[in-house]
Amino acid sequence: MSILAKVTAVWGAPDSGKTTFAVKLAAAIYDNYNSTVMLVCPDMETPTLPVLFPNAKRDDLSSIGAVLAKTDVTKDDVILHTVSIRGMENFGVVGFKDGENKYTYPSFDEVKVRALFAALTDNAQVIVVDCTSSLSNPISAYAVKYADEVIRIAAPTLKSISWQSSQLALYADPVYKLDRQIQGLNVPDGELYMPLEEARAHIADVRFSVPYCRAVKQQMLDGKLWKSVKDRDFNKKFRALVEKVV
Ligand SMILES: Nc1ncnc2c1ncn2[C@@H]1O[C@H](COP(=O)(O)OP(=O)(O)OP(=O)(O)O)[C@@H](O)[C@H]1O
Ligand SMILES: [Mg+2]
Repeated sequence: MSILAKVTAVWGAPDSGKTTFAVKLAAAIYDNYNSTVMLVCPDMETPTLPVLFPNAKRDDLSSIGAVLAKTDVTKDDVILHTVSIRGMENFGVVGFKDGENKYTYPSFDEVKVRALFAALTDNAQVIVVDCTSSLSNPISAYAVKYADEVIRIAAPTLKSISWQSSQLALYADPVYKLDRQIQGLNVPDGELYMPLEEARAHIADVRFSVPYCRAVKQQMLDGKLWKSVKDRDFNKKFRALVEKVV
């Protein structure tokens, strides 16, 4: 990966808040550091573009699958298939579109994914990857292996604890550098009691936590996740995180 660009992979248990965290991190870096930021959403089982842009027409969204389907992945092609947001120059999103799945395009291997990241790092200073929990997704697998930094998200739930206990055992190979991943605890639900302290006892080495924020949950439903929220506690946490990441 380019020495100029920094790639951060966000990985972790299903439903733990990875997409929310990745978007908020990318937007916070963009807001605070005036950098060119790319958010990569590799999910082909639940394509992310229609979730992040519910108000866009299908034809206005461009799929990264079309880039990976070609023999060569070029920088210009990646730019052409990047979704931009009005009012956010130098912030781009690449991902899959509504209705797509792993059979929509020819399958692609690590060589193609490496070329994709080379093009991305040519285009942007900061890349944030919203990895799928399952690393059978080749873009997520590449990001978790080769990103400059992997932030692993868990929620204080039995589901997150079960996922960590099952999946981390699969990635003991040193290429995954599990010991260097940064563990965070995110609270995705405010309605029910979630045993935060108990979760900390099961999820080793929690380095930071992200509080529940009702406005953020609403933003996801409205397709406005990159907008800021008026929540001091939440914003303070993200500012501190951005300082560590950038
Ligand atoms: N800190 C938070 N405050 C409020 N709501 C949150 C927070 N984090 C996540 N959520 C909500 O929790 C739910 C799951 O979040 P999200 O989709 O980001 O999880 P995910 O880990 O990406 O899920 P998946 O495994 O399906 O990709 C969403 O409704 C989201 O709005
Ligand atoms: Mg997600």
